[in-house]
Amino acid sequence: MQHIILIGFMGTGKSTVGQEVARQLGCSFADLDAAVVAREGRSIPEIFATDGEAYFRERESQALADMLNYSTRHVIATGGGIVLREHNRELMRDGGYIVHLAASKETILARVKRDRNRPLLQGDMEERVSKLIQQREGLYDFAHTTIAADNETAVQLAARICKLADGSCK
Ligand code: S3P
Repeated sequence: MQHIILIGFMGTGKSTVGQEVARQLGCSFADLDAAVVAREGRSIPEIFATDGEAYFRERESQALADMLNYSTRHVIATGGGIVLREHNRELMRDGGYIVHLAASKETILARVKRDRNRPLLQGDMEERVSKLIQQREGLYDFAHTTIAADNETAVQLAARICKLADGSCK
């Protein structure tokens, strides 16, 4: 089952673009962060604050594995840190067509600026974003394709992805 999987740093538009790809192709949409939140019955900041990042990564990896097993083709928006584990990267490579949404640090900062829902960005946001971009250097490169998300709307980006990813769900 070849799902369409969106990866990329926080604030690159994975969820918005993913929903639009699903709409244009007539596929179902699944959001990994939302799935973890639904299963846990609490927000991502709450999960991080109470049980820590390692616990979140376990839950996130489990939710990914379950999603990749869906029997119908889905467009899947992941969280920015899903690429940290090699096993997740392998599972995604086996399970779908992977699109990396890439954006400049400036675009990312502009989009996440007032966000309180991302525990890894609390504090000096510019410093946090720079450090994480550095730490994750190369980790998104296993995607089948990389698309610059800085200058196009979600509808335009989705149209490009639909052309690249083979086959609709209608
Ligand atoms: C994270 C990204 C977030 C969310 C969590 C951790 C990361 O998802 O999974 O806050 O480590 O990059 P988005 O990329 O949708 O913001």
